[in-house]
Amino acid sequence: MKQKVYIYRSFERFWHWMQALSIFFLAATGFEIHGSFTFFGYQNAVKYHNIAAYTFIVLIVFAIFWHFTTGEWRQYLPTTKHLKAQINFYLIGIFQNAPHPTKKTVLSKLNPLQKLTYLALKILVIPTMVISGLLYMFYRYPQKGMIEGLNIGTIEVIALFHTAAAFLLVAFIIVHLYLMTTGSTITSNLKAMITGYEELEDAHGNHESENLKNDKKEVEA
Ligand code: HEM
Repeated sequence: MKQKVYIYRSFERFWHWMQALSIFFLAATGFEIHGSFTFFGYQNAVKYHNIAAYTFIVLIVFAIFWHFTTGEWRQYLPTTKHLKAQINFYLIGIFQNAPHPTKKTVLSKLNPLQKLTYLALKILVIPTMVISGLLYMFYRYPQKGMIEGLNIGTIEVIALFHTAAAFLLVAFIIVHLYLMTTGSTITSNLKAMITGYEELEDAHGNHESENLKNDKKEVEA
């Protein structure tokens, strides 16, 4: 039986949408700096990119605090259980009207593929963006073309990492937008991230799979 459940708390929704806005704006201004198109003008693009970057960093600090104080970081513990089933679902099952291989519950909001992808974003892609971005800043501004303390005399490697991670983030957003529409209805995931509420079949995992049971044990431990 379906039940309306409060699944995304207010800070979580605020963080999600601020992050979406920041990344969208950073990608737009960043690719203008890169030379992909002209909209704000190069100098303004650099100025806006820097402001958005600082906003993004402040948001990340609050988000890290929130994840640890609420214990929500456990949602991202990776698992290989049902991972293949989840991949097969997106490749084949979804086109044959097959049911979702894992059920969403309050204690296990993410499917195994999401856990892995979001964890990689949090510990690899976003840190790469932030660290290379800050190095880019310090290379450009205070020391004008050099970071003496780190013996960095060329921007090439920094720019390569920053741009590669930017492409990865943009690719993620495109896939994320498609997958967003594959919930129980086209808009159910979007509505949940706006209102916090979602209709779930088994809200608290009463008939959960082994995968979900394990997650629950970990959270309770
Ligand atoms: C806290 C995070 C970030 C910081 C500190 C940062 C900082 C910077 C800086 C200082 C520049 C060079 C500006 C100049 O040439 O004077 C730059 C360029 C760029 N940024 Fe970011 N950025 C961040 C996040 C992002 C994100 C999230 C994206 C895209 C999704 C992005 C995409 C780009 C791109 C494509 C360039 C041009 C790189 C090139 O062509 O060499 N940045 N960023």
